[in-house]
Amino acid sequence: MHVQTGFIVLLCLMGFTCAEPVKFKDCGSATGKVTIVDISPCPVQPCQLKKGGSYTVNVTFTSDELSQTSTAVVHGVIAGVPVPFPIPNQDGCKSGIQCPIQPQQTYHYINALPVKTEYPAIKLVVEWELRDDNKKDLFCIRFPVQIVS
Ligand SMILES: *[C@@H]1O[C@H](CO)[C@@H](O)[C@H](O)[C@H]1NC(C)=O
Repeated sequence: MHVQTGFIVLLCLMGFTCAEPVKFKDCGSATGKVTIVDISPCPVQPCQLKKGGSYTVNVTFTSDELSQTSTAVVHGVIAGVPVPFPIPNQDGCKSGIQCPIQPQQTYHYINALPVKTEYPAIKLVVEWELRDDNKKDLFCIRFPVQIVS
């Protein structure tokens, strides 16, 4: 671990609000490109999501096109099987993005990731898509998480 990373982890563990860039995989962004994914709080990776907790996801992306709308679709991928993962607000235009989305513009998509108490304590992969007017993915990202009690 880098000295700097260790320092950041220490600050986060001490209770500072930290938005750490998480390692993500692109799963087919078609009309945009993701540069940074922040999850807060997430001092160690994969992010440990506590049951009953709420986390903030901040996806920085650049759009290639004009889109009036944007709709988020979130799945939890458990043993390769995508299961719908409900989020409070699916409307990307009400999640930090000012619509219409303009081409070559950078946006921060901000949303809450609530973790229900009835979720099992398992590792899974979160797949987060933001779809444009034509239901194409402005972005599609995957990142691993671990649900903990
Ligand atoms: C989202 O992340 C970007 C890039 O790290 C940052 O500049 C921006 O301030 C963040 N926005 C919020 C609301 O956290």
